[in-house]
Amino acid sequence: MMHQKLVTILAIESSCDETAASVIQDGKIITNFIANQSVHEKFGGVVPELASRAHMENIVPVVETALKNAFPLLSHSQRLAQLDAIAFTQAPGLIGSLLVGAQFAKSLALTLDKPLISVHHMQAHVLANLIDDKKPNFPFLCLTVSGGHTQIVQCNSPADLIILGETIDDAAGEAFDKISKIIGLPYPGGPVLDKLAQQGNPNAFVFAMPQVPALNYSFSGLKTSVLYFLQKQAPGFIEANLNDICASVQYTIVEILMKKFKKAIQQTGIREICIAGGVSANTGVRNGVQLLGENLSCKVYLPKFEYCTDNAAMIAITAHYKFLAGAYDDLSVTASARSKW
Ligand code: KG4
Ligand code: ZN
Repeated sequence: MMHQKLVTILAIESSCDETAASVIQDGKIITNFIANQSVHEKFGGVVPELASRAHMENIVPVVETALKNAFPLLSHSQRLAQLDAIAFTQAPGLIGSLLVGAQFAKSLALTLDKPLISVHHMQAHVLANLIDDKKPNFPFLCLTVSGGHTQIVQCNSPADLIILGETIDDAAGEAFDKISKIIGLPYPGGPVLDKLAQQGNPNAFVFAMPQVPALNYSFSGLKTSVLYFLQKQAPGFIEANLNDICASVQYTIVEILMKKFKKAIQQTGIREICIAGGVSANTGVRNGVQLLGENLSCKVYLPKFEYCTDNAAMIAITAHYKFLAGAYDDLSVTASARSKW
C-alpha cells in the first residue's frame, strides 16, 4: 500500500501581543504554541511599538518550539521538510506586529519553495470552531467577541463567511477592558472582572442598554454610563461594591450581546450556533449562549479556552481549508491593519 503524505501546514499569528505558531496535519492540530508579551502590563494596554519589537525577538524561537513540539524525533532540516505550506495572519491588527509574521512567513515560503497562505484573523476566530471533533454543521452562526471586534457571522462554508452585524463603536472586549480600568483592575481587565463578577449580584446596579438598529452593536454608551454612575458615588464605593459592580457590568454586556444574537438566530432560522474571540472565554457569555440555545432549540458549540483568545491554531485550521481549495497567495501579498473580507 502506498503511504500517503499528510498535508502539513505551519501557521503564524502575530496580529496583536501574542506571538504564536501552530502545526496542523490533515486538519488536526498537533501543536499550538504561544508566547505572551508581558511588556505591556505596566502600560495598561498594548503598546504597538513594543509589540513589534517583542514579535521580532519571539518569532524565531516560537516557530522553532512549535516545530520541535510537532516533530520531536526529527532534525531541524527534516522538520522543515515536512511542511507543505506556510500560513500567516494577514489582517487585521497592529501593522508593525502583522508585518513581522508576514515577512517571516514569506521568507520561509520563499526559502522552502512552498505555497504561502494568508489568513484573515477574524475569519480564523470563527473557524476555530472547526478544530474540535464536535463541530457545528454548515450553515452556522457565530458570535465573535474579541478585544477589537464584535460581529455576528453567518458561516456557509469555510470560504463563505458573511458579517450580519457588528459594533459601530467599541468592541465587547474593549468595554470589559475600559470599564475594568475605570474601577482600577489590572490590564487586561476582562478575565479579572469575570472572576469578581462570579461573587457579585448581577442585578445590584442597572446600566444603560444601547438602542442600535439591525444586528449591530454599540458599547461606548455603557462605558460612559458606568463612569457617570461611579462619579456620583461617595469615596470608597468601588472598593465596597466591587463584586456587585463587576457582576452588573458583565450582566449588561451579556444581555446586549445575546439580544442581537437571538435576533440573528430568529431572522436566519439557523439553529447551529457558536462563539469565538477572547471574550468568548467569559463565563457570562458562555452561560448566556448556552441558555439562548436551550430557549431557541439550537445546537450550541463552545470552543476550548485555548482557541478563544488569540492563537495560531485558528490560523492553521483556516489555512488547512484554504490549502484544500488551492487558495494560495502570491509572495507580493502584504499585511494590512484594517481589512474586511
Ligand atoms: O481575541 P482576543 O484574544 O484578542 C483580540 O483579537 O482582540 O481578545 C482579547 C480580549 C480582551 O479584551 C480581554 O479582556 C478579553 O478578550 N477577555 C475576556 C475574558 N478573557 C479574555 N473578557 C471577559 N471575560 C473573560 N474571561
Ligand atoms: Zn483576536
